[in-house]
Amino acid sequence: MIEIIQSDITALDVDVVVNAANNSLLGGGGVDGAIHRAAGPELLDYNRSMGGCDTGEAVISPGFKLKASWIIHTVGPVWRGGKNNESGLLRNCYENSLKLAFAKGLRSIAFPCISTGIYGYPKTEAAKIAIAAMKSHEKSFERLIVCCFSAEDRDIYLSLL
Ligand code: AR6
Repeated sequence: MIEIIQSDITALDVDVVVNAANNSLLGGGGVDGAIHRAAGPELLDYNRSMGGCDTGEAVISPGFKLKASWIIHTVGPVWRGGKNNESGLLRNCYENSLKLAFAKGLRSIAFPCISTGIYGYPKTEAAKIAIAAMKSHEKSFERLIVCCFSAEDRDIYLSLL
C-alpha cells in the first residue's frame, strides 16, 4: 500500500528518504536544502566525492544526522513544456531510486514530489508517474511513502489513489 502523508520529509523515521537534488549534488533550495540542513555538513563533504549525478539517475549517501539511515539523491527533470522526455526522466527517478533502495536491502522509503517545486513539473502529471512507478514495486517494500509538503499535493495524491 502506498501511504500518502503531509510532513517535512527530514522528520521521517524510515530506512531511506529520497532527495530531489540537482546535478551537482551539492545542495540547493526546497527539499534539497532542508535535507542538507537536517543531515549536517558531512553530507556536503560526502556528496562532493560523488562527482554529480545525471538527470533521472540516483545515488545513495548515509543519512548523517537524519533519523533516516540513508538518503537517495535523484535529479528530476526541469519542466520545459513536456516535449523533452520530461516524463521518461521523471519515471527514471522513481524507478532508479526504488531499485537502488531494494538492492541495498532498504524496506521503508519516502519520496518527496520530485520536480514539482523549483523545477516546475505539473503536479498532477508528476503524481501519476510517481504512483505508477511505486505501484510496480509495491511488493518489494514494507513502507512506500509519498511525503507531501503541502495540503494541495496531498489532495492530488489522495484523489488519484
Ligand atoms: N519535506 C518534504 N517536501 C518538501 C520539503 C520538505 N522539507 N521542502 C520542500 N518540499 P523542490 P524540484 C517539496 O523545489 O522541483 C533544489 O534547489 C516542495 O513543496 O524541492 O525537484 C534542488 O537543488 C515540492 O512539492 O524540488 C534543485 O536545484 C517538492 O518538495 C531543485 O530545487 C519538490 O520541490 C529541484 O527542484
